[in-house]
Amino acid sequence: MKVTVVGAGNVGATCANVIATNDFVREVVLLDIKEGIAEGKSLDMWQTAPINLYDTRITGSTNDYEKTAGSDVVVITSGLPRKPGMSRDDLIATNAGIVRGVTENIIKYSPDTIIIVVSNPLDVMTYCAYLTAHIDSKRVFGMAGILDTARYRAFLAEALNTSPKDIQAVLMGGHGDTMVPLPRYTTVAGIPVTELISKEKLDAIVQRTKVGGGELVNLMGTSAWYAPGAAAAQMVEAIIKDQKRIFPCCAWLQGEYGLKDIYLGVPAKLGKNGIEQIIELKLNKDEMELLTSSAKSVKEVMSVLDGMQTPVK
Ligand code: LAC
Repeated sequence: MKVTVVGAGNVGATCANVIATNDFVREVVLLDIKEGIAEGKSLDMWQTAPINLYDTRITGSTNDYEKTAGSDVVVITSGLPRKPGMSRDDLIATNAGIVRGVTENIIKYSPDTIIIVVSNPLDVMTYCAYLTAHIDSKRVFGMAGILDTARYRAFLAEALNTSPKDIQAVLMGGHGDTMVPLPRYTTVAGIPVTELISKEKLDAIVQRTKVGGGELVNLMGTSAWYAPGAAAAQMVEAIIKDQKRIFPCCAWLQGEYGLKDIYLGVPAKLGKNGIEQIIELKLNKDEMELLTSSAKSVKEVMSVLDGMQTPVK
């Protein structure tokens, strides 16, 4: 099995490192446009193999897509990260061109691959990769929900002084401030979270989750990488091991939740074929309203992509 990670910046390098360290794939290729960076980072990672005790062979490449040939899964992290004061949507013009070029090259050498997009604005960059790749939407999807629920679960674990392992949660919608954490579907070792925390505290955690990426941008002057990289690696593992895990993923909707022709975060089952099932929850009126409004803001940014001077289609 072979995995390529495009982009050897913070997110891509972290993702490649987690994949290699978890030792579930034979080969990882890290690729970047900047001379030497992917080779250097992958060599450094490979030199941790005797310490961390894994077999995954990790190599780097400066923009030579031939080295990525025959990949089973490709993670696209390329593009500019956010700076303080920017929304993810501000990145669209630059990152759409980058994601399109990367996707064309990837498909040329790995026509049967599954593509996981991590670049921002996430939902729209996933749409951009889908339009460019011309493959089944079950094989093109985005990573956001695992990251956003991880933030939500970490905040809850802290507030409840409990293990983050025991916190299960669903979160839907776009990867932006309109995302929809769902307290009704949040449990702590099977116990509804609402039985363990006050409404005020839970509301504050939901709000902090929605702007969780921005909190980190403000602290560091650039966007996060440890949790985004680990989250993408977890999706890769579910696919490579055919685990049938259910994660919130940015998936192409064709009528689910009453939404059509849109990439949006929904619970989905991940296995060797990519997205094997989209799970439709029975949302109540308030939850549905939040999801519809999140979909509306994603659609607006999708139409910016559709209207760009050199359309992808
Ligand atoms: C974040 C960026 C990666 O949420 O979108 O941290």
